[in-house]
Amino acid sequence: MWKHHQKLERHSLLLVIGILVVVAIGGLVEISPLFYLESTIEKVDGIRPYTPLELEGRDVYIREGCYVCHSQMIRPLRDEVERYGHYSLAAESMYDHPFQWGSKRTGPDLARVGGKYSDGWQVDHLTNPRAVVPESVMPPYAFLAKKDLDYRDIADKLRAQRTVGVPYTDAMITNAVTDLETQADPFAPGGTALKKRYGPKVNQRDFDGQPDKISDMDALIAYLQMLGTTVDFTTYKADAGENLR
Ligand code: HEC
Repeated sequence: MWKHHQKLERHSLLLVIGILVVVAIGGLVEISPLFYLESTIEKVDGIRPYTPLELEGRDVYIREGCYVCHSQMIRPLRDEVERYGHYSLAAESMYDHPFQWGSKRTGPDLARVGGKYSDGWQVDHLTNPRAVVPESVMPPYAFLAKKDLDYRDIADKLRAQRTVGVPYTDAMITNAVTDLETQADPFAPGGTALKKRYGPKVNQRDFDGQPDKISDMDALIAYLQMLGTTVDFTTYKADAGENLR
């Protein structure tokens, strides 16, 4: 045995090949079960795909680089949970392609910012952060309210998300434009159909305070106002082992 091992130790190429084989076995043992385990992401009630308007808002969020200063992932540490709320569950970002966990917090975490402020506050803050938080270093995004949202390709966006595993139904894709317009108008007749497709908790409002138009601001605020609100944590019970605290 040791004689054979000497061969390995004296030939660097053999040694490299040997190391690769051993590491590959280790890797396979760790990684391959994840592709077959249904339970890799724990199923949680309330998780739903983004509505068309929220998906557009998420694209605005990505386009404007909000993720450069904001994370969307609350870690299971006491200081984070006390400041931001229940730690983020894997299921909460299972329909996020690409996910928005972020890697830096110049501003606070936004994973549960939905419902924390009124739409009016969000408009004021995005228009001029210093107007509501005098010491803020966040840049102003006033132009978002002036810009009409371009949602001509929303059905294709839903279709693209479906190819990577988001369960958008045919009805959701066919009605994408109507659903988007409905969500931004509290008086639109399609509200019931929209909520039937995406759930009763969907916010149907004029988010930016300009009833005559659907702006980038409408989409972004619709997105911000739903972040972290899908799971009801008064009834949520973590699986054994999931609860790390
Ligand atoms: C240069 C870094 C920076 C960028 C880029 C940035 N923010 Fe902020 N944001 C901050 C800081 C700092 C705060 C905390 C002070 C404040 O409330 O303005 C903040 C606060 C917030 C809050 C309030 C959070 C809370 O819990 O009080 C929201 C919502 C928000 N930002 C959304 C956005 C969105 C949406 C974008 C992209 C359009 C964005 N931010 C881009 C730095 C940034």
